[in-house]
Amino acid sequence: MVLISAFYKLFLRPFLFLLPTESAHKITNLVLRRHSLRNIISKPLSFTDDRLHVDWCGFSIQNPVGLAAGFDKDCEMIPSLASIGFGYITGGTVTADARCGNPKPRIVRDKSEQSLINAMGFPNKGVDAATISLSKIKGKLIKTPIVVSISGTEIIDILECRKLLEPLSDVIEINISSPNTAGLKIFQEPTSLDELIGKINDVRHKPLMIKLPPYSSGCIEKARENILRLARICTLKGVDGLTIANSKPVIDARLATGRGGLSGKPILEDTIQMVKDIRSEVGSKTIINACGGVFTGEDAWRALQAGANTIQLYTGLIYNGPGVVKEINKEILKSIGK
Ligand SMILES: Cc1cc2nc3c(=O)[nH]c(=O)nc-3n(C[C@H](O)[C@H](O)[C@H](O)COP(=O)(O)O)c2cc1C
Repeated sequence: MVLISAFYKLFLRPFLFLLPTESAHKITNLVLRRHSLRNIISKPLSFTDDRLHVDWCGFSIQNPVGLAAGFDKDCEMIPSLASIGFGYITGGTVTADARCGNPKPRIVRDKSEQSLINAMGFPNKGVDAATISLSKIKGKLIKTPIVVSISGTEIIDILECRKLLEPLSDVIEINISSPNTAGLKIFQEPTSLDELIGKINDVRHKPLMIKLPPYSSGCIEKARENILRLARICTLKGVDGLTIANSKPVIDARLATGRGGLSGKPILEDTIQMVKDIRSEVGSKTIINACGGVFTGEDAWRALQAGANTIQLYTGLIYNGPGVVKEINKEILKSIGK
């Protein structure tokens, strides 16, 4: 594992970081789509210990480190990603129809801060393509639950995604919080969210999670109140879990849209604060997945201590490579032992 981490940081990352961010992601995607890769990477990267097991959405997951939505938008890399050692994988965000996303450039790195700013706008091949990808792996990943993130600006589209993807996944996560998609904010209105969850509840058979927006800059107190209200609605409606949170809206002239979502190190403190606030708001029953800025075992441990059941990461994987999951789990185990 030390070798894999060193190889990534010394050779692979410098090469990938020479490329535009989206090209680097495309290369990674091409490699990870080869399902045979799992035989090579799974042994050095796997790490199990009963003390890491977590009861989560009706599953006993192997460890509390999940992959966040957005890395595998079309659910094409799940077997390889599972072999990296994640406790669960989130595929998507999938929308009913294929989308080409926002104009480029739509993702930039800030290496000194270890962050990314993206304005992807949900590029994905649509629900039919995701259905085909997931059908190919159905029942093959016994130990790693698959979450599929879905979204849309109309309830009917989200219902359609649920109908097709729920039978092929273990948990559905609804993303109401991408900062880069016009119209998505509709479900950040309490009445619209209540209606959306009600309609999903009428038909769903599997656990449901909602991915909330972060506290935005500006009037933090007002944003906080609004998000706590959304969290309360989710709990009252019987939602199983909350993912806290999506990337943080920022202005950035390097992006074609002039604005995007900040992820990585700079948002960790916001994540921890949100987890604390929302845990005390919703009580102990609702699952909380802390998502935003987790890079190390210490970050993960802080999020778990703040009240999260699991953590999710995306940007930490880009900066620290595939060995990051094992590293985090080993460090969590040390903290458990203290
Ligand atoms: C390039 C990129 C694309 C993303 N796409 C999605 C997405 O499709 N759906 C979603 O819910 N979150 C998406 N996210 C947000 C991440 O899932 C996560 O919430 C955010 O990056 C904060 O976590 P991190 O600091 O560990 O990256 C995306 C993030 C990045 C960097």
